[in-house]
Amino acid sequence: MKEKNRIETRRRIEAARAGGGEARIDRQHSAGKLTARERIEVLLDEGTFQEMDALVTHRCNDFGMAERKVPGDGVVTGWGEVDGRRIFLYSQDFTVEGGSLSATNAAKICKVMEMALKVGAPMIGLNDSGGARIQEGVASLGGYADIFLRNTLASGVIPQLSGILGPCAGGAVYSPALTDFVFMVDGSSYMFVTGPNVVKTVTHEEVTQEQLGGASTHSSKSGVSHFRCRDDRHCLEEIRDVLSYLPSNNLESPPERECTDPIDRADPELTTIIPDHREKPYDMHEVLRRVIDQDSLLEVQPEFARNIITAFARMDGKSVGIVANQPSVLAGCLDIHASVKAARFVRFLDCFNIPIITFVDVPGFLPGTDQEWNGIISNGAKLLYAYCEATVPKLTVITRKAYGGAYDVMSSKHIRGDLNFAWPSAEIAVMGAPGAVEILFRKELASAENPEEIATARTEEYEGLFANPFTAAERGYIDAVIEEPETRSRLIEGLRLLAGKRDQNPPKKHGNGPQ
Ligand code: HXC
Repeated sequence: MKEKNRIETRRRIEAARAGGGEARIDRQHSAGKLTARERIEVLLDEGTFQEMDALVTHRCNDFGMAERKVPGDGVVTGWGEVDGRRIFLYSQDFTVEGGSLSATNAAKICKVMEMALKVGAPMIGLNDSGGARIQEGVASLGGYADIFLRNTLASGVIPQLSGILGPCAGGAVYSPALTDFVFMVDGSSYMFVTGPNVVKTVTHEEVTQEQLGGASTHSSKSGVSHFRCRDDRHCLEEIRDVLSYLPSNNLESPPERECTDPIDRADPELTTIIPDHREKPYDMHEVLRRVIDQDSLLEVQPEFARNIITAFARMDGKSVGIVANQPSVLAGCLDIHASVKAARFVRFLDCFNIPIITFVDVPGFLPGTDQEWNGIISNGAKLLYAYCEATVPKLTVITRKAYGGAYDVMSSKHIRGDLNFAWPSAEIAVMGAPGAVEILFRKELASAENPEEIATARTEEYEGLFANPFTAAERGYIDAVIEEPETRSRLIEGLRLLAGKRDQNPPKKHGNGPQ
């Protein structure tokens, strides 16, 4: 009996490994995609995968399904290691019923999610699925809801990352959307609530899958995708890279790397980055690269709302999150997309004990009917709310403009900025000189015989008062005006100082941030 069961065990495991069979695996490969198991091999450290529920089968008998049972039922689940740290995962197997979600398939996913939450390890979902298993009807929809609930309960406790490596349609898109980061692959992954056919019927728009919900669309237009990848392999490597910046759960600190970049490296080039003319753009990436540990910048949503930069980086070998206005796009104005992008990133960093370094060069919120009618007020407030709420170490460097409400928002002292630095080129004011002079001296200018001369004099007067960091520094709103090359060493010293920071918000069920 024992021997018979041993042989049967091997047979079933073999069947689980074979998935939907050779022909379907070939089809997967010819579409340029890896199989569910090959993806796991690329994602994990070699030989660390421990599979669970390989022998689970579905329980549906309708539509001839009783004859179509493959052990594992279209999803591979378990745990393994990335850089020696444990993670849990599921990987949908498109070769078995199109990776569609059955009730048992959902139960397998929920089981690993619960284990990940219990032991405090990141949860990685590799999605490649035709959606709800049509033959199972509402049982499948219930399975999705079970996953959504667990995504939500795990949010802020363990990092959750979603690779989209094939179709992801209908309500199924909401599981990835509930996780922290979405990775998409050019040409093979797509996400939409309703596909091109439904779109055509309802709105008469003709659109391809790629245009509607491909990697490019979600990376640049909607912001649904945080990382756009060339192919499956690149996607899995990116997931590994992101994990290297994250702690395993909200009670741990992020992992540290050895730092070979001198902590007191003073880069003299920083003194010439800010152009002489205040309206002239420059690339904030240049500043970041010269300040952080060499080659440690990993940008999040690099193609979406490019007027703000959100990125992981390392300082002194330790993870930090960077939020930086980008003067070379929209002059670095805060608009709806930039506010939402940065707000979500700030909240993520705060969830997972990653210090925030904010680089400020912002002329204000973007004006106009488009912004107002689409809710720049409530969307801009999201960023304000996120910074106010965050209790991780918050360090700020004002490189040039910090005007108006945007000064307050960008991690100012008033909203619990821990260390606020300004470069000598900083200008901290309600608005720029031309706008201010026009408002303050409108009557004088209107009645003057020489309005241009007066405007020049008033502008000089205003700039003398506000086009510098000193008024703010005199009030202690800026802790120190620092020379540009010192930035790296001052920030690292600040991060060391604040490593043991303790701060908390009043006890509450949860806040009610702006919608
Ligand atoms: C059962 C499915 C399936 C599904 C695909 N298959 N989707 N089986 N339920 N949802 C099966 C196919 O029958 C086929 O089986 C195999 O998977 C591969 O599918 P193909 O169509 O041959 O592949 P391809 O041409 O690449 O097209 C992939 C696809 C298409 C675009 C995903 O299969 C498709 O449109 N599927 C239906 C998508 C859908 O509408 N799903 C419901 C979404 S709504 P064989 O045996 O031939 O290999 C939803 C609600 C979630 O998910 C709600 C959450 C709240």
